[in-house]
Amino acid sequence: MSEAASRAIAMLEPLLGDRLVTSQAVREHHSRDTSRLAPAMPDAVAFPRDEAEVQAIVRACAEHGVPVVPFGAGSSMEGHTIPIKGGISVDTREMNHIIAIVPEDSIAVVQPGVTRKQLNVELRETGLMFSVDPGADASLGGMASTRGSGTTAVRYGTMRENVMALRVVTPDGVAIHTGSRAKKSSTGYDLTHLFVGAEGTLGIITELTLRLHPQPEAVSSAVCSFASVRGAVEAVIETVQYGIPVARVEFLDEVAIENVNSHSGLTLPVAPTLFFEFHGTPAWVAEQSRIVEEITAGHGGSGFQWSTDADERGKLWQARHDLYWATKARRPGCELHTGDICVPISKLAENIVAAREDIDASPLIGQIIGHVGDGNYHTAYLIDPHEPAELAEAERLSERIVERALACGGTVSGEHGIGTAKLKYLRREHGEAVDVMKRIKAALDPKGIMNPGKMGQEG
Ligand code: MLT
Ligand code: ZN
Repeated sequence: MSEAASRAIAMLEPLLGDRLVTSQAVREHHSRDTSRLAPAMPDAVAFPRDEAEVQAIVRACAEHGVPVVPFGAGSSMEGHTIPIKGGISVDTREMNHIIAIVPEDSIAVVQPGVTRKQLNVELRETGLMFSVDPGADASLGGMASTRGSGTTAVRYGTMRENVMALRVVTPDGVAIHTGSRAKKSSTGYDLTHLFVGAEGTLGIITELTLRLHPQPEAVSSAVCSFASVRGAVEAVIETVQYGIPVARVEFLDEVAIENVNSHSGLTLPVAPTLFFEFHGTPAWVAEQSRIVEEITAGHGGSGFQWSTDADERGKLWQARHDLYWATKARRPGCELHTGDICVPISKLAENIVAAREDIDASPLIGQIIGHVGDGNYHTAYLIDPHEPAELAEAERLSERIVERALACGGTVSGEHGIGTAKLKYLRREHGEAVDVMKRIKAALDPKGIMNPGKMGQEG
């Protein structure tokens, strides 16, 4: 451990006591995320309970020039929380209080360690819900930091649309608030949305004011198989362009269907497939299902089945959310090399079809899934961590989807973020704007202590 880190730790011990941990096991847990990326150990892990403790940690680290790496549930996918330069990992799990729920204004105020499922359990009796649903039961602070989303973004938006205000401890240890509870505002720089997606490189989020949505009166789900990948994606494009307010529309290719069938006990036909969900009144969900059934039939869809059965729906969406683990289970000992591309919806079919052709021509096993209503899709290649040739092949395939996405006006990440894995693409996507990002970082964090070596310093 560096001398600077020991001094910062010594400063914090009297305040945090046994909530400042240097044991091997706890440091190891905070040395990785869910990605295949190499772990790196923090010098210590702090478990603050409130904003004042976060301020004390940041001040101690600023004084001694020690890295500070915010950590939520550890479910990020691109290396965001890996402390590549050591320092103190700040785990927000004990900041897990729901501070206020204000149904009249459809907002909730929470500490950053509250998870999305915890908030929804609390909201059950209010008639409201928090919509953003990444696969993992992620922490809301982490979801804001990564500008995360999931299956419902097509209808309710990502974290960008659902975070109204924040409290943040900046790299000098000052606590600020950004945004307000008002639905709109035309005052000041939009700092809320500077911190949403900053991946902990500009400060630590200590409180979030979130937008809630009414729980739908009726919900129906539907599954439909297609003769081709193109048919499935074109059906989605037409559905979105028609203006059907689908709550969810997920694409799973044949490989993904095999994986959900074997892992989650489903018996779906092995073919390119769409999972839909519709929200509204009973009559409106029936109408949406009927219109979408017609659209899918026009694109080679078959076996369209819709249902309002809550158990059936629960099983379907749980299987979808478990897909990451289902895919890993397919080749024991393997790692997943994941991709996360988002393109304008009109370009989605050509992008996914080309990505599937690339995988078919490759020796790797790979699948494509997608939150396709947003133009967002994921690739996942199963690679043997001891076979450099497999990693090289996965990187080659990734390069190709990135090139295609950028060539058609898309982005190299719809929801998984930059972390360390995507840093190499930042300049290709943003050009000279990366220099502006670096100037913002240098202005807010002149000592470079906040999640160093990542966005804002590199790329
Ligand atoms: C998902 O959509 O399931 C997540 O983003 C994780 C993944 O890429 O598999
Ligand atoms: Zn996803």
